[in-house]
Amino acid sequence: MKAISVVPGHKSSAQIIDVDVPTVTANHVLVKVKLVGLDRTDYEINEGLYGEVPENEKMLIIGHESLGEVVEVGTEVKAFKPGDMVVSTVRRPDDCINCRAEEYDMCLNGGYTERGIKGRHGFLSEYYAEEEQFLVKVPEKLGDVGVLLEPTSIAEKAVRTAFAVQKRMRWEPITAMVTGTGFLGLVTAIILKLRGLEVISVDRSDNAYKDRIFSQLGILHFNTKQINLHEIPHEIGRQIDIIVEMTGNSGVAMHAIMVAGTNAVIVLASITGGDRRIEICGDCFNQGLVLGNKTIVGIVNAHRRDFEQGIADLQTAEAQWSGLLEKLVTARYPPENIHEALSSLFENIKVVIEF
Ligand code: BGC
Ligand code: ZN
Repeated sequence: MKAISVVPGHKSSAQIIDVDVPTVTANHVLVKVKLVGLDRTDYEINEGLYGEVPENEKMLIIGHESLGEVVEVGTEVKAFKPGDMVVSTVRRPDDCINCRAEEYDMCLNGGYTERGIKGRHGFLSEYYAEEEQFLVKVPEKLGDVGVLLEPTSIAEKAVRTAFAVQKRMRWEPITAMVTGTGFLGLVTAIILKLRGLEVISVDRSDNAYKDRIFSQLGILHFNTKQINLHEIPHEIGRQIDIIVEMTGNSGVAMHAIMVAGTNAVIVLASITGGDRRIEICGDCFNQGLVLGNKTIVGIVNAHRRDFEQGIADLQTAEAQWSGLLEKLVTARYPPENIHEALSSLFENIKVVIEF
């Protein structure tokens, strides 16, 4: 079968390879891949900045945002049958206390693997096999939009974490800000709207296509080429209670922390593989956090319950803003065009590979 592999550490190494269809053992499910979404992680892996091969192998099959159909199940599989549509989770446990409690996303020892990213092959292949415990069934009526579930699970973890840490006090948030309007930023904005918040989306461009999405959602958009991030609370006449940072830019992350209001929570979710230096006023940064009782929390990956909440929210979003989710998939490519697909990431909302 066809698959797309890279050699981690080597720039632009993505290529089509031919590998065997995996065999199905007693507790495994064989999945025929339909769509695989690409994100910045895949881009950075193909840039040679990130990613690890599985033990004793020379290449890594990439792809971690999948949607596929069950075609075969092992004799011990209980929850799945051929024809089911499924999304696989990404992270696999080591033996730390969190992993043993099925909180792989909070792995303590760092011995975890991630399919398509770290030490384990991903889903950019015609078929993959997986244990049923790592698969999530998606309702058929979600259709192709099911491919958005894995990145949606990250947004769900960001929002769930924000509300969890704010249990530290009485908290009645009104305004949320999401920095970054890639798929992750947009789906986070959608989830925050569904939680009843006023939502502000911030990025560095004006894009008529995205403007239509913001207005359909009732979201206020600011372009930081036109307004300084620090002026936004003044401009809207109220403080920001929750900020979710998803730009991939650590400078924006530091400034977002300073812009957040009293008692606010700032969730940092960008993976910034580089070594960017920025200059900030350390005293202002510290003083603002202390006098504002603010809290900063970082999040990565997602728990199974975030996938489940993601299914619920994608369905509610579809019901509330009909046709919106489909509009977030802005490009489809065949596997052969992987390089073109990766280089189109930054001008698209979500790029998918179609098998
Ligand atoms: C994936 C996560 C993963 C993270 C770090 C993201 O793109 O969606 O599942 O944990 O990269 O490798
Ligand atoms: Zn662990």
